[in-house]
Amino acid sequence: MRQPMVAGNWKMNGSSDSVKELMNGIKAGMGGVNAEVVVCPPFVYIPSVADAIGDSGIKLGAQNMCDQDAGAFTGEVSGPMLKDVGCEYVIIGHSERRAMYGETDEVTAIKYGAVLKNGLKPIFCIGETLEEREQGITEQVVGRQIDAILNSDGVASLANAVLAYEPVWAIGTGKTASPEQAQEVHAFIRNKIAEQDKVIAEGLRILYGGSMNSANAAELRSQPDIDGGLIGGASLKAEDFLVICSAGQG
Ligand code: PGA
Repeated sequence: MRQPMVAGNWKMNGSSDSVKELMNGIKAGMGGVNAEVVVCPPFVYIPSVADAIGDSGIKLGAQNMCDQDAGAFTGEVSGPMLKDVGCEYVIIGHSERRAMYGETDEVTAIKYGAVLKNGLKPIFCIGETLEEREQGITEQVVGRQIDAILNSDGVASLANAVLAYEPVWAIGTGKTASPEQAQEVHAFIRNKIAEQDKVIAEGLRILYGGSMNSANAAELRSQPDIDGGLIGGASLKAEDFLVICSAGQG
């Protein structure tokens, strides 16, 4: 049985006060969740969120990481630093980083390897643009993005990783993939991994991301190959995030 996961990607949002309030809200509702709950704050708030987490069982993640461990890399944050402040997960390959910060398949693969090398777990994001979906090449695109990490780190590396299928056209748009659309791609991903290693594929958590919210979470989470969600906008309100974290699991 795969343990479901719901991870909040706060992106570049929040303030000292709002982060405190959000954490208090999430902690108050942890009794009802049926998933591993992860929050990924902006770097500067990670230490205060780590304090707030206490013994609540909430896990901590970062949104990005440098592939180098230390040195003259102005503006970057390394794996050892993230470990030092209590992170367990790191989001890698988010479509915003791919589109706005030039992260190619090659860059995402290097970062993925660096996360693992540091004893952290990547939440590796993949997904097609609207244009690619309309061209009917969703599986090629997602397949290519996964091949980048399979070719560099091998299928066994997925034992310590989580994948997140996030169709770019669904991120922040309010346009969610239908449960059937999402399940179809999730099944493709699991089958692709199974061609190399059935046991790894069976144990691999594949999250859905892209306008998942309190209204559609239960149906998405009930799909057989959807093991939870990577949540942007709806993770910024404790009440909405908690509904997603406790949505009925199939
Ligand atoms: P969204 O973002 O939930 O706001 O669509 C998801 C993500 O980018 O991870």
